[in-house]
Amino acid sequence: MRTIIERCLVGLALIVVAPARAAEVEVLHWWTAGGEAAALKVLKQNLERQGVTWRDMPVAGGGGTQAMTVLRARVTSGNPPTAVQMLGFDIRDWAQLGAVADLNALAERNHWNDVIPAAIREFSQYRGRWIAAPANVHSVNWIWANKPLLDQFGIGVPKTWTEFVAALDKVKAAGKIPLAHGGQPWQEATIFDSVVMLTGGPEFYRDALIKLEPKALQSAMMRAVFERMKVLRRYVDANFSGRDWNLATALVIKGDAAFQIMGDWAKGEFLNAGKQPNIDFLCFRFPGTQDAVIFNSDQFVMFNVARDARPAQEQLAHAIMDPQFQIAFNRVKGSVPARLDIPVEGFDACGQQGMRDLAHAARAGTLIGSLSQGHGAPAAVKNAFYDVITAHFNGEYDSDEAIEELLSAVAAAK
Ligand code: BGC
Repeated sequence: MRTIIERCLVGLALIVVAPARAAEVEVLHWWTAGGEAAALKVLKQNLERQGVTWRDMPVAGGGGTQAMTVLRARVTSGNPPTAVQMLGFDIRDWAQLGAVADLNALAERNHWNDVIPAAIREFSQYRGRWIAAPANVHSVNWIWANKPLLDQFGIGVPKTWTEFVAALDKVKAAGKIPLAHGGQPWQEATIFDSVVMLTGGPEFYRDALIKLEPKALQSAMMRAVFERMKVLRRYVDANFSGRDWNLATALVIKGDAAFQIMGDWAKGEFLNAGKQPNIDFLCFRFPGTQDAVIFNSDQFVMFNVARDARPAQEQLAHAIMDPQFQIAFNRVKGSVPARLDIPVEGFDACGQQGMRDLAHAARAGTLIGSLSQGHGAPAAVKNAFYDVITAHFNGEYDSDEAIEELLSAVAAAK
């Protein structure tokens, strides 16, 4: 039998011998475009100033599809990253599997419940437990335009679908690319989000893309949506297939193309190229969707990690929720803060509009999760939509076939 003193000495020796794990976070994300990388740097530097080493794990691919595949492999092999950028329903899936950490103590100390809107908290919390730190709110129903080009062609901001199509025709006649687009399923679904909102309004959007009601999915309204997608298809250039979203944005930045329908991460690319809103580029809501905000929020989900890795994980979560960080980061990223207590003054014209629109939509009940960005339905359903939308956009289905396919694909994925 060892004496108490002996046991204490052994314990002390262990403490001295066991090397303290260096404060480090490994972060999986898909922010690889210029504007995205610039925004991420704000977070990296913030942590490095606190003595936390940042291990970067970038996996390119908008919407995060490829990143989620890599994540599955990491968790399956028992080695999850510290934190993972994630959207909507994917967060819930990982929470259901019990793979995520508990941030409640940190959240309570810092009153997260009071400053994060309910629509975002719905995904940051699972069964009353905080599991993720929301960095921002993006929205997809935006159009980005090259201002000098529009001025040159005498085109004003289109307020209706008819005006938008007339503007696209004008650009086409002048020999420029009317619509900068990257032919990837998630990008086509991003356009689809706006066209559904324009055509059917918020109620229809909810019925069809969130509640997945068969009646809405096979309605004349949905057929009209696909017909409008066909119209937009006429205005993309011949090389659109497979193009990354930021390369499509570059076409607008350079003045080769007039418009891009894309989430406000596109603004990050304009800013990163030294361009200014209302001088070099315009941001405006997709015509007919001015009252609604189709949102998504990038959240950093904290995974179950070893006990000694938790302090750095909490530092990361705390840094993301810091008001000064939310200002600095979102000014660069193109999104708006997830926190409601941030003044609009520090933001440019597009950012201020984004913040005002968000507040208005939250009050009016028109703040609605984006299907294309994982906030409308779980991944299997989202992917079923992606497949049909893309096949139709590429002429494999006419609009009648598309609604039939949609109905059966969604039913199978539910
Ligand atoms: C994310 C954005 C990102 C965009 C393109 C979206 O799903 O929410 O943060 O910039 O994909 O990569």
